[in-house]
Amino acid sequence: MKKLISVLFFSFYGYAIIRYHFGKELIGFTETFFVLNKALAWTAGTLFLLTLFPQYQLDKFNLKRRQLGTSGYCFALVHILLILLILNPDLYPKFYSDSELNNDGYTTIFLGISSLLLFSLPLYASLQKRETLQHLYRFGRFGIYLNILHVTSIGAKGWFIPTNWPYFMPPITLIFVAQAALIILINKFVLKKNK
Ligand code: HEM
Repeated sequence: MKKLISVLFFSFYGYAIIRYHFGKELIGFTETFFVLNKALAWTAGTLFLLTLFPQYQLDKFNLKRRQLGTSGYCFALVHILLILLILNPDLYPKFYSDSELNNDGYTTIFLGISSLLLFSLPLYASLQKRETLQHLYRFGRFGIYLNILHVTSIGAKGWFIPTNWPYFMPPITLIFVAQAALIILINKFVLKKNK
């Protein structure tokens, strides 16, 4: 489990470093956290996505859904804490108009907070370990759908202009949504049939 998390985090961080520090030449103290935050958010979202796989698939890789979810939650909390510290009009101009949060900013934050709240329900159930709370686990799936919207609302405008991509590296938001679509489709059309 620790190995999987390290591989995910360092691969994502490597991608973010090349795309943003080198490709977009974002250098500086705050920019270091801006780029680190992308790797943290991407790891959090991916760990949540992995919880969608059926147990028999997770068993093959010795993974526990509970651990994936709680680790994802921890990464998400650090992502949110960092965002609260570095969110400003210079670093995130698309979320501001005249130095005030605009609709795009509010939408992103609203969708992020909503998905966190939905993920909190299965977290609570898994910490309590009570049979009567089993129904709370299903909210995690809706958390994932809202999280996909959270990421789409951030990046969709830049997805179809490859000439703006540093080194032709697609935006993390696009990769994340493609990753999510792939996992959802594999679960729906490939894995269930083989059960
Ligand atoms: C379950 C919780 C959350 C998860 C899994 C999550 C995941 C993500 C992911 C995968 C990205 C795209 C990474 C990128 O390209 O930057 C992202 C970006 C972002 N998230 Fe979240 N998020 C969560 C909650 C929140 C919350 C509560 C807020 C606000 C308070 C928030 C604010 C942002 C912002 C502002 C960005 C844009 C960052 C950037 O473009 O550099 N997120 N998030």
